[in-house]
Amino acid sequence: MVDRLCELSKVSILGAGNVGATLAQHVVQKNLADVVLLDIEADKPQGIALDLMEARSIERHDRSVTGTNRYRDTAGSQVIVVTAGAPRKPGMSRDDLLRINAAIVHEVVSRAVEYSPDALLIVVTNPLDAMTYLAWKTSGFAPERVLGMAGVLDAARFETFIAWELGVSVKNITALVLGGHGDLMVPLPRFSTVAGVPIINLMSAEQIERLIKRTREGGAEIVRLLKTGSAYYAPAAAVTQMIEAILHDEQRILPAAVYLEGAYQLHDIFMGVPIKLGRNGVESVLELELEPDEKAALLQSAASVSLSLDLLAHSGLFSRSRQSDSF
Ligand code: NAI
Ligand code: 2OP
Repeated sequence: MVDRLCELSKVSILGAGNVGATLAQHVVQKNLADVVLLDIEADKPQGIALDLMEARSIERHDRSVTGTNRYRDTAGSQVIVVTAGAPRKPGMSRDDLLRINAAIVHEVVSRAVEYSPDALLIVVTNPLDAMTYLAWKTSGFAPERVLGMAGVLDAARFETFIAWELGVSVKNITALVLGGHGDLMVPLPRFSTVAGVPIINLMSAEQIERLIKRTREGGAEIVRLLKTGSAYYAPAAAVTQMIEAILHDEQRILPAAVYLEGAYQLHDIFMGVPIKLGRNGVESVLELELEPDEKAALLQSAASVSLSLDLLAHSGLFSRSRQSDSF
């Protein structure tokens, strides 16, 4: 049944940059779906698609990758991933990208949903939480069908640093990071475990604080090293995990930026929380019992996301039922 579902699947990736191209490779190599890779730049998506098609006889799969500049080629997609935009440059915060990427996200989402009215949307473009909200407003979709990818990536970074610190396999580690995909993200040590044991029982408060800081700065650390772009291997792997959960209807618990209207006492905002992810998108939001300091950190992160949303709302791209001063 699962294989039949996947046989029919089509994933369109808007933006054939580093994240988009790497994601396309994962999706076809894992035999999850055929891929349409779209970009504004002439020839670029066609070149990447041809390269990936030529890899098929070595990788031994029959999935197709189509490179295009025409939205009609994306018609009938089950999942649309938005990676179009400008990446962060050294010294640039995620919020610096807000205005540049808002125009791009608005354009690509409005054009793509015309051809795939039943798709689920996964947004990757930064600043993530604001762009996911904008994609939702632009699409007119039910909120359950719009998600932002950040939590899987941020948790993967935290897991990596925990594994290195303790000298254990990363396979033993499950970490949780909530909140906005920014400097105020909220890694949760109480819910981060090594073979089921919370890390608060395995490390000192100073050690944990150091790993949290590195996780929060994880994107910027890679920007500093790469100099000409931002991370894409781990981000593409993170989106692949989300696509797999959707197309295989896994009902998998993952952190993702989703619409909150009441959960965690937050309203009219997209932000990272644990969800159950399946064929219908956000099947449910898991509400954890947070300690007062964890809750305060989540609210602080939400206030920062909300400020970005207010900025976008003032530029006339959408209206909001809540303003940031309600935090
Ligand atoms: P990139 O610069 O390699 O690729 C972006 C692509 O978008 C380019 O090929 C560009 O031509 C295309 N593009 C720009 N305007 C377009 C339009 N109007 N229509 C179609 N295509 C358009 O950037 P990269 O590294 O792939 O990152 C993409 C975005 O994802 C950035 O905003 C980055 O900050 C964000 N990102 C978010 C992560 C997350 O955790 N949410 C992780 C990694 C990246
Ligand atoms: C990251 O965290 C750039 O947001 C992106 O790597």
